[in-house]
Amino acid sequence: MTEFSPKNILVTGGCGFIGSNFVHYVVNTHPDVHITVLDALTYAGNIENIKGLPEDRVTFMHGNICDADLLDRLVPGHDAIVHYAAESHNDNSIANPAPFLETNVDGTFKLLQAARKYDVRYHHISTDEVYGDLALDDPHRFTEETPYNPSSPYSSTKASSDLLVRAWHRTFGVKATISNCSNNYGPYQHVEKFIPRQITNILEGQRPKLYGDGLNVRDWIHTDDHSSAVWTILTKGVIGETYLIGADGERNNITVLKSILRAMGQPEDAFELVKDRPGHDRRYAIDSTKLRTQLGWHPQHTDFAEGLEQTINWYTDNRQWWEAAKAKTEKRYQGQGQ
Ligand code: NAD
Ligand code: TYD
Repeated sequence: MTEFSPKNILVTGGCGFIGSNFVHYVVNTHPDVHITVLDALTYAGNIENIKGLPEDRVTFMHGNICDADLLDRLVPGHDAIVHYAAESHNDNSIANPAPFLETNVDGTFKLLQAARKYDVRYHHISTDEVYGDLALDDPHRFTEETPYNPSSPYSSTKASSDLLVRAWHRTFGVKATISNCSNNYGPYQHVEKFIPRQITNILEGQRPKLYGDGLNVRDWIHTDDHSSAVWTILTKGVIGETYLIGADGERNNITVLKSILRAMGQPEDAFELVKDRPGHDRRYAIDSTKLRTQLGWHPQHTDFAEGLEQTINWYTDNRQWWEAAKAKTEKRYQGQGQ
């Protein structure tokens, strides 16, 4: 197998949670690679996330992936596009789906057209949520063969974007791969998401908020393991293939919340049950055998208690990073009764 060794990567959404962790990962592990970050700096993007990285290794471009003229200027000269940029939060997609259609569907279309025009290798970041959900007692997990069955405006736009990638590969020969990953946790995650919301609630003296009965299951992976998996697929993946990324981290929400409460010295029952999310997926679970056996990837950060403690410490030590966003986010949740 000949490995692809990109030297000049365009990372979209590199100021968001997972994209910025990927940028840090590549800077730290591949000294010969230059990265251009293209990010619109929406409410979810923060330039602070890539601050301090060497300027000769990382160039920032403020712009929108839906801007085809900008892509015409930016894409030539890069040997790969790694596409993270998205509207990423289910609750927001229920309140206002329009930006999800624009960024996730039209934005992916624009990037695929640029990858096609300039013959640039393209890796597409997606989610396990495209497969819908599993019953709590279902013995199966998602595989690359599971039919698409998305539930929410967010996951349906991600599913749409995956299908565009498959079509652009088959019809136009775009050198594309796709990865569908499970729920990430770690530093730089926006406080609207489950784990940072609960940690920062506790830090602010507010009770954590659990949706519905709290028994929904998510399959947690540390974001550094997501980054190493994406690098593996980018460099060793077979063009046209899809790979599922997961670290065998299934836990229900109430168990995760109790672990956070315990680690932060709170009583285990110090939370509130709030209104459930409409259409709330019950369970996600990933079988990542293909990635492990065909490309030799393995997760390194599988001690969830340790990863959670590091994440709690990061939010404790970086209040200035989240305080302004926290106030706005909680106001929004209050309006939704959550
Ligand atoms: P995020 O919301 O933290 O970051 C998204 C980034 O994209 C932000 O920096 C934002 O400014 C930027 N962006 C949004 N619209 C843009 C546009 N039109 N043009 C340019 N930049 C734009 O998201 P995240 O949680 O880091 O997710 C990143 C990717 O990973 C998404 O594609 C998401 O679907 C996928 N994913 C996320 C998870 C998860 O657990 N969060 C799991 C699997 C896959
Ligand atoms: P979230 O972080 O929004 O990720 P996703 O919807 O992509 O899985 O939510 C993770 C789980 O936590 C999901 O089952 C919804 C639940 N949840 C809560 O119980 N309370 C909260 O305040 C939030 C934001 C999420």
